[in-house]
Amino acid sequence: MSSTSEGGVGRQDWERKTTSRTGAGVVDDPYPRFAELRPTNGGVHDSSFFAMFGMGDPTSEAWKGAQRFATLSYAATEHVLRENTIFTNAGIRRMTQHAFGPVSLMGSDDPDHRKFRLLVQPAFGKKALGLWQSWVKPRLDELIDGFVDKGRTDLYFEYCSQFPVFVIAMTLGVARDDLDWFQEQAGLMQIGAAPAEQARAARLEVEDYMRKVIAERRRAPQDDLISLLIESEITEPDGKHKITEEQILGLVCNLLPAGVGTTFRSLGITLVTLMQRPDLLARLYEDRSLVPAVVEETLRWNGPVLTSPFRLAAEDTEIMGVKIPKGSLVEPGIAAANRDPLQFENPDVFDPFRPVKPTLAFSYGPHFCVGGQVARLELRAALNALLDRLPNLRFDPNEPEPRLTGLLYRMPTAVPAAWG
Ligand code: HEM
Repeated sequence: MSSTSEGGVGRQDWERKTTSRTGAGVVDDPYPRFAELRPTNGGVHDSSFFAMFGMGDPTSEAWKGAQRFATLSYAATEHVLRENTIFTNAGIRRMTQHAFGPVSLMGSDDPDHRKFRLLVQPAFGKKALGLWQSWVKPRLDELIDGFVDKGRTDLYFEYCSQFPVFVIAMTLGVARDDLDWFQEQAGLMQIGAAPAEQARAARLEVEDYMRKVIAERRRAPQDDLISLLIESEITEPDGKHKITEEQILGLVCNLLPAGVGTTFRSLGITLVTLMQRPDLLARLYEDRSLVPAVVEETLRWNGPVLTSPFRLAAEDTEIMGVKIPKGSLVEPGIAAANRDPLQFENPDVFDPFRPVKPTLAFSYGPHFCVGGQVARLELRAALNALLDRLPNLRFDPNEPEPRLTGLLYRMPTAVPAAWG
């Protein structure tokens, strides 16, 4: 195992290294362009999101020459996500095999995907949510203890980025001393974040590590996620299926890129959004029942991921009347869909008091985010812990005000905060 970062996880370099290829610092606000293009062709655009913004596409190596489409309207995006036998995950499979391994949820299609989802369900069911939760609050308190007396810090790097990877690592049985290494691998395994060879090397290191954990848990089960998964089996018409070691490893390698950056970037976006709205923040201190709505509205208004994993058209088809030739890659633009005025009134306004409506922040259809409930409990707990312990939270007046930035992944440039 190798580690190049020292003294803690989630340093600025790590975030820069893993997001510079995907639009951070290049595109700050993609939404006006989405609004401009959405009314044409039912919101089906004939290029990739990167091309839409004149950027080189770090994901194109795997699909040289394929025709590309991106959806910008709610109806078009929902259609692609629902029709999963036409818009298959073969698109993302080829792009991510090096990072996620030969067997992954994101890279599989029905009927394999359906069985795989059933087999990993125990890791996200009621009992498991308690396991996830048991690591959240102690970690948040520990982090706040580290900076509360200073009166100011960058919450993005010292708080947000420090906890989702910890929670996944602990839940999976990773040793505390290996956390830095673990977060570094998680960064390299994000879609489009690193060249394929680097992503593959990161995945192989994680697999080696986890094989040992699985072997230990087989010998001596514990009250943890790996032990729960080892026991998982489903009954199908053709008999009983137990989860395989490859499937457990595939899930682990999918959890890292899927559950770390998404969650901490979303928390960072929430904090910047609240600090830009001191009246709303003051109201939140007084009325914590608003926390879930603030979390949901942030995910709708400025979620951490632009698109669901790319789908491959398995046959000639149409979206909103636009012809999509077989073999095209389609990017389901969930972020653009969540600002569609046909679905949400005044979509560009951040309004946690808007009527409750489903969004596509965690996607839709058979691949919808399996970790959505984990993400929600983490985001709510992290926000509440700050409100509990940092009174009068505001931007640090000695630091430049942060921006929200990024295309494939959205994030704040920083969260410089002062309190007290
Ligand atoms: C704010 C946080 C999060 C957001 C916005 C988010 C969003 C998404 C999206 C958009 C997808 C793609 C679904 C599709 O292909 O249509 C996805 C899939 C997935 N997410 Fe999340 N996610 C978050 C947190 C998490 C967490 C905390 C975990 C695990 C603990 C997780 C695990 C996964 C996995 C394993 C998949 C693949 C599901 C499949 O293909 O069947 N995610 N997520």
